[in-house]
Amino acid sequence: MADKNNVRIHIGTGRKAPSEIRVTAADAAGYFKHKRSKKMKVLLINGSPKANGCTARALKEVETALQKEGIETETIHVGNKDVRGCIACGSCSKTGKCVFNDIVNETAVKFEEADGLVIGSPVYYASANGTLVSFLDRLFYSTSFSKKMKVGASVVSCRRGGNTATFDELNKYFTISQMPVVSSKYWNMVHGFTAEDVEKDLEGLQTMRVLGRNMAFLIKAISLAKAEYGLPENEEVRCFTSFPDGL
Ligand SMILES: Cc1cc2nc3c(=O)[nH]c(=O)nc-3n(C[C@H](O)[C@H](O)[C@H](O)COP(=O)(O)O)c2cc1C
Repeated sequence: MADKNNVRIHIGTGRKAPSEIRVTAADAAGYFKHKRSKKMKVLLINGSPKANGCTARALKEVETALQKEGIETETIHVGNKDVRGCIACGSCSKTGKCVFNDIVNETAVKFEEADGLVIGSPVYYASANGTLVSFLDRLFYSTSFSKKMKVGASVVSCRRGGNTATFDELNKYFTISQMPVVSSKYWNMVHGFTAEDVEKDLEGLQTMRVLGRNMAFLIKAISLAKAEYGLPENEEVRCFTSFPDGL
């Protein structure tokens, strides 16, 4: 029987059937601490041209919540950079990186190491900021490393409207990449024209804190599940149906 001093844990390696051993609660704590010895990390992307605007304020709230849960964070300011769009040259399919060696390739190295990604954008004409879209198209298209079970969340900031369309737009980068999308208690949005406005959006800020805590939990849960069960299997043959028969 498992009680608080004497517990049963499963030691699993990848997809093999796990074996069960009986250990003390102290040993079990040590085992899971060992499993979690690598610090978990989340990258936060600020897609606004403003370093200290509304998007930055929202991201800060998520970041602080993540840090309180023991997650390492790094914020990358993308919206103020000169980022061109994808030119569909196909070079990345051979090299695994974008032909334009800029912040996209710099971020790719960090993204590969990270356990989670938070994308923040101001709403521009009911869509994500153009610089951010160019960045994300190239980041996701050019990188061949697996993003499976890295978690993702998007955060949007608008003065008045277009927030849910932008939220949907950004979440699509995750759902095409086998990345579970972390949710909060409302859609991840704040309202304002300045960071001071966002300060008054108490519900928006609370949504960000809940998001940060949920993301931390999910990252830890996925890490334990990976150790216990391994990642879901990939199919060997990748179907890529583009109707080559022209029908
Ligand atoms: C080019 C441009 C387009 C915008 N379009 C919208 C819009 O469609 N809906 C909206 O509510 N706010 C719109 N805004 C306002 C910003 O989305 C809003 O102020 C946002 O919170 C700014 O975030 P930031 O301070 O992080 O840049 C627009 C702002 C700019 C500069």
